[in-house]
Amino acid sequence: MEVKSELKVKKIKKGTVIDHITAGYALSVLKILGITGREGFVFTVASNVPSKKFREKDIVKIEGRELKEQEVNKIALVSPTATINIIRDYRVIKKNQIKIPERICGILRCINSKCITNKEREPVTTKFRVISRNPIRLRCEYCGTILELEDIEKQF
Ligand code: CTP
Ligand code: ZN
Repeated sequence: MEVKSELKVKKIKKGTVIDHITAGYALSVLKILGITGREGFVFTVASNVPSKKFREKDIVKIEGRELKEQEVNKIALVSPTATINIIRDYRVIKKNQIKIPERICGILRCINSKCITNKEREPVTTKFRVISRNPIRLRCEYCGTILELEDIEKQF
């Protein structure tokens, strides 16, 4: 008899499935979404599960909630491989491959304390140019400082 090693996580009726999350980043995704578990809605998390596309992946399934654009942009930064599936009546009605935009504005802080964006007196919206997507690398348009995944992840 063949033994299936595939992991089965229950299908959801309505909501969002964030699939193909970089293995180990499901909890960062929950943090970005502000999900603590005390909000009352159902969500499931699977971490380091086998994937067809990549070696391993994480999955987050959220019942009854859809994501805002800024939330999707933040998830892209820590997990450029993720797919956002919108579920209604148990069916995938929309599947979006996450995209990291060319520039990231107003989401992240610059890690250079001397950067003009960190001066309290003259508030400036932060702007970063995406110079690499996987691994993620951003360059501050004001001071040239480079942000890498670990600098980004700490900010959520
Ligand atoms: N899913 C779910 N509940 C549903 C429908 C789908 O939790 N009612 C989940 C599936 O388990 C899967 C993801 O949503 O993790 C995407 O579903 P589907 O497009 O059917 O799967 P695949 O074809 O494997 O997706 P992909 O091509 O993106 O790998
Ligand atoms: Zn800067």
